[in-house]
Amino acid sequence: LTHFKAENEPMFEYLKDSPERKRVQASLARLQSQMTEVPIVVGDQEKRTRDFRFQVKPFEHRNKLAKFYHASADIIQDAIAVSIEAQKEWEVTPLEERAKIFLRAADLVSNKYRADLLAATMLGQGKTVWQAEIDAAAELADFLRMNVQFALEMTRYQPISTTSAKNSMVYRGLEGFVAAVPPFNFTAIGGNLSAAPALMGNVVLWKPSDTAVLSNYIVFKIFQEAGLPPGVINFLPADGPTFGSAVTRSPHLGGINFTGSVSTFQWLWKKVADNLNTYKNFPRIVGEAGGKNFHLIHSSADIPHAVNNTIRSAFEYSGQKCSACSRAYVPDDIWPEFRKQLLEQHSKIKLGSPVEFDTFMSAVIDERSFERVKSYIEHAHNSKELKVIAGGKTDKSKGYFIEPTIVDVTTHAKDKIMKEEIFGPVLSIYVYPANDMEGVVKLVQTTTPFSLTGAIFAKDESVLEMWRRKLRFAAGNLYINDKSTGAVVGQQPFGGARHSGTNDKAGGPHYLLRWTSEQSVKRGL
Ligand code: ALA
Repeated sequence: LTHFKAENEPMFEYLKDSPERKRVQASLARLQSQMTEVPIVVGDQEKRTRDFRFQVKPFEHRNKLAKFYHASADIIQDAIAVSIEAQKEWEVTPLEERAKIFLRAADLVSNKYRADLLAATMLGQGKTVWQAEIDAAAELADFLRMNVQFALEMTRYQPISTTSAKNSMVYRGLEGFVAAVPPFNFTAIGGNLSAAPALMGNVVLWKPSDTAVLSNYIVFKIFQEAGLPPGVINFLPADGPTFGSAVTRSPHLGGINFTGSVSTFQWLWKKVADNLNTYKNFPRIVGEAGGKNFHLIHSSADIPHAVNNTIRSAFEYSGQKCSACSRAYVPDDIWPEFRKQLLEQHSKIKLGSPVEFDTFMSAVIDERSFERVKSYIEHAHNSKELKVIAGGKTDKSKGYFIEPTIVDVTTHAKDKIMKEEIFGPVLSIYVYPANDMEGVVKLVQTTTPFSLTGAIFAKDESVLEMWRRKLRFAAGNLYINDKSTGAVVGQQPFGGARHSGTNDKAGGPHYLLRWTSEQSVKRGL
């Protein structure tokens, strides 16, 4: 294993009548014909509480997909004790042995459970088959395999001996457990937030999102089938504040691995601050917390290419990616042509059920999201300064459907619609004077507190170079002539700074260092 090299998982297109499409259709039919029951799992025990809930399909919210239970504060305490016990053996299990488990899990993702993972992600999270493929198959398998390669490479580092004394480095997990709190929007993130710390020798309490519980449970079961010992990762659907309070009160908290909203991330930091004297260690806090991502377009840009990438970034998965483009800056000299092509492409978008394979985007995840996104659209409809130029209708009678919506904000570049994370299919466009290059860069920089992703489009290389330099801190992931979404594990390690998070790049080698507590050892005689 020592020199293991990971390859990115090849992807299928699920063309009509292909065997892979048939496999997904069979999984869709099976998951829709029954309601799956998802237990809490602590060690080798399944648990059920009276506090049960249902995961519904966002595009047909009367249809229940899964029944699951919320863990109580007592069960979370039990899970902490069970994980601390499991850590004794797990942290001394050689890295190669731990790695083999996650490589087996990656193979189960690519082969045996691929169709089930896709179907659960399509039905539960409302992803189209392609969006499910890049997430629950490719990105998940990639995280598992690339992390193994990075961990093996990283732990090969040993201090240089400059004297006869022999120096060495021991890589151990953190002392304590890691709380993994993923979002609903990527099945792969649920897998990575729990698997990456576990690979490094940590034990984990995994609180899946209520709206992604089924796909996350399938991932958890895959880890079990791959040979992960009981108690190393515990599966704990729970109310957010109950979970957050219980883990941050524990003296054994070793770290938090979070992806979600800024407000929840800030709340967790405050909870940690309140309990600092309780802990044995300063907890490691790793988090990715959203964005307000830009596409900045230059007069020299290839217009069809920039339009196509902007549509894809803003509206694929209904804009529910932390990386989605939600503000675009287009120069006035190309705006008429850009606008024409944008509206043409917009008119071809098929909004519908993700189970139909030609759907481009489907419903947003739940009623809370629907109401939030709708409130921004209403704000645009009601504002004298903003103009809704495409879409703008919403309908939650059957599913949480929101039309892909484009808003022209030209008279109000710093409207809240350009500042705040909406997390839905709303793209705002500011048309800037083509000769005001300084002004537009300043707007991109100063309009929001976020710094997750951004994209610049130009054929003029000197413009690209200048923008690249000036936007050094405006995006953790910067794309040149490419959309702001779709980071590939190992190729574009992902994460942002400022209010977007701690900028520990998931899918890159340094991420794993956050989950080790190294010991330097010098031997004299
Ligand atoms: N990593 C995801 C993307 O880049 C969020 O789109």
